[in-house]
Amino acid sequence: MAIKTTISLIKCDVGSLAGHYIVPKPLLNIAEKNLKQAEETGLINSYYVFNAGDDLQLLMVHQKGESDPEIHRLAYSTFREAADKALELKLYGAGQDLLKDAFSGNIRGMGPGVAEMEIEERGADPIVIFAADKTSAGAFNFPLFRIFADPMNTAGLVIDPNMAGGFKFEVMDTMDNTKVTLKTPEETYDLIALIGTVQRYMVSRVWRATDNLICATGSVTRLSQIAGKYVGKDDPVMITRAQHGLPAVGEILVPFMHSYLVEGWMRGSHWGPIMPVGLKDSKCTAFDGPPRLVALGFQVSNGKIACDDTGKPMIADMFDDPAFDIARREAQELACTLRRMGEFEPARLGPEEMEYTTLQQTLEKLKERFKPA
Ligand code: 13P
Ligand code: 13P
Ligand code: MG
Ligand code: MG
Repeated sequence: MAIKTTISLIKCDVGSLAGHYIVPKPLLNIAEKNLKQAEETGLINSYYVFNAGDDLQLLMVHQKGESDPEIHRLAYSTFREAADKALELKLYGAGQDLLKDAFSGNIRGMGPGVAEMEIEERGADPIVIFAADKTSAGAFNFPLFRIFADPMNTAGLVIDPNMAGGFKFEVMDTMDNTKVTLKTPEETYDLIALIGTVQRYMVSRVWRATDNLICATGSVTRLSQIAGKYVGKDDPVMITRAQHGLPAVGEILVPFMHSYLVEGWMRGSHWGPIMPVGLKDSKCTAFDGPPRLVALGFQVSNGKIACDDTGKPMIADMFDDPAFDIARREAQELACTLRRMGEFEPARLGPEEMEYTTLQQTLEKLKERFKPA
């Protein structure tokens, strides 16, 4: 029997330094302390704490399965403790994404973002996780399509018979709270018809069609729907699995050689160019952006993240590489082009998404001054 291992990536904006810039060290330290303790007591087998801009990211590898109450409680109590520290330090937006107070066994729906994947370990299991800041889960629709369904991106779809059976995409309708599964290549056009609408339809899972092997899972929360108003962007996370009849790591990364536009950026109210960066540049500055994306690679090995000789998990900072310089350059250029347009659409989001923001108060103020024309 193959070992069953779960990868949980749970994130939360608990408060940040200098506006919505980064998670500062004292908050990372709290996460490090709590996860280390959980590793010592055997609740988790491995962990890695990092930040995607102002979002605190807990990567945990364990054998408790998905949606485990103990794992979720660990994440929740860590975010709570970090938010209290943020409050004490008067950091910006302390506890921003902790929208609900009473934890009752699952952190989903409380504000933090969750991506979890239970796998049966193969001979070698390469994983790539993604974490974005200043955008929403729809930002992953385009690259997920390219990775698992576009033969011009993923050579394996053409060359590797183990991938020729195609992939199945679970798509969430975040407006109606329903979901549908579509199969590529047969339903490619229908899939694009849905997930091209990135503000409403979001890919939540992908499986290999021939044997239902799980190969990608993302967080699809809409904070504005939980809170009923704009409180911050969802800043999604995603887990992908690679090689041996799945897209290669290089095929998972190649869509990011070019920038593309995503919703988010300043006040979550603008289209902005995604900028793939190494961890050292995982911070948002100009107009609270441009939206950043980090990608970390590792091997899952006997229920853990494969470690070096000193017992430290080996983590590859995949976008810390000149191969993505052009994407970063494009992001800068697109950012300048869009910002020249100021608050005029399409630089600013359309009216449906703006309904959740403070723009409503401005429009309300003008309401009674309108006369029949
Ligand atoms: P303030 O109203 O605190 O300036 O917040 C604006 C903001 O950052 C929106 O997310
Ligand atoms: P975050 O969602 O990253 O907190 O950003 C909020 C924001 O309004 C930035 O301008
Ligand atoms: Mg924030
Ligand atoms: Mg954020």
